[in-house]
Amino acid sequence: MSRRLRTLEDLGGLRGKRILVRCDFNVPLEDGQITDDFRITASLPTIRELLDAGASLVLCSHLGRPKGQVRERERLAPVSSRLSELLGTEVRQLGPAASEETRAAVGALGQGQAALLENLRFDPGEESNDPVFADALAALGQLYVDDAFGAAHRAHASVVGVAERLPSASGRLMQREVEVLSRLLEGADRPYVAILGGAKVSDKLATVNALIDRVDALLIGGAMAFTFLAANGAQIGTSLMEPARFDDVRAAMASADSKGVLIQLPDDVVVAPEPTLDAPRHTVPATEIPNGEMGLDIGPRAVEEFARSVADAKTILWNGPMGMFELEPFSAGTRGVATAVASAPGFSVVGGGDSLAALRKFGLTERIDHLSTGGGASLEFLEGRELPGVAVLMTKD
Ligand code: 3PG
Ligand code: MG
Repeated sequence: MSRRLRTLEDLGGLRGKRILVRCDFNVPLEDGQITDDFRITASLPTIRELLDAGASLVLCSHLGRPKGQVRERERLAPVSSRLSELLGTEVRQLGPAASEETRAAVGALGQGQAALLENLRFDPGEESNDPVFADALAALGQLYVDDAFGAAHRAHASVVGVAERLPSASGRLMQREVEVLSRLLEGADRPYVAILGGAKVSDKLATVNALIDRVDALLIGGAMAFTFLAANGAQIGTSLMEPARFDDVRAAMASADSKGVLIQLPDDVVVAPEPTLDAPRHTVPATEIPNGEMGLDIGPRAVEEFARSVADAKTILWNGPMGMFELEPFSAGTRGVATAVASAPGFSVVGGGDSLAALRKFGLTERIDHLSTGGGASLEFLEGRELPGVAVLMTKD
């Protein structure tokens, strides 16, 4: 038998069971308000299924990076309120996992009831996978379900420690993420086209190299494109670039070349002296950016070419914006690519917080086949690395 991810079916009867459910509720907050609840809504199918099966749920998550300290602005109260609204039933906000009060409150949960533990990262034991903290967490449930794909690349107590202590399985979101992203690693329908953007090539170099082994074409936009262009001798003005990565990107381009993989860089770019709303902007060839100007978006010809590749693809992966789309004057490239991906008949997968934010801004989320809740986790998965939070949920043989 080949190893596979354990799913809810592997847990047996759920009625009357108390289940510790790890979610990734690491949502953006502004002045205590959730500005994007996608990670919460994405967790609802698992939560509803478990509640309907008659389990009681101890939900848990991290939020931000409080580094073992209690930080008021990273409390999970806004999440428990939002969950209560979405589920139409109260999700009580509990205190820290390792406390007598929490143990008592959890013991009093009835069938079909859910409560949320306070931010796991307020305790230093979470990130260090401290056995005492993992024991305390595991004591709160009889079973463990991990639906936090976004945190699966972290070997933390709530991800790995508890899975080693309790009968455990993936939730529906985790299951779907692993299923879809595995398909992008092996067995994707061809042509397979990946579009990468974002600011820094250094963050995505491993992904670039892994994709070169798998895709037919790799389209590169965003500021990371300037490191590729500059490494090829282009004049890029004051655009962002990472000269320390020139050798790496040259090696990537050579490897793509030898494998017959097309690396497509933007033909033209929108430039301005500075990234502001009223800066005078114009479009120039990507290899001839004037001195004192910086590339802030891909140009219309680049959008057209990228869109053509995407339209013909059977599988499309997009991660990272094409420019500074938060500023309207530099949003056309990201909008164009987002529209092309949404309109393409091929199977589309989009990951990364910025790309999802762009899709939402342009009203296109419904037209994507799979929106990944993982940022770092999806990139590491696509590098072909084994994620600790996934490995611990696999069957033994
Ligand atoms: C994310 O936002 O990518 C996940 O929630 C993981 O957060 P982290 O990078 O702080 O571990
Ligand atoms: Mg499609």
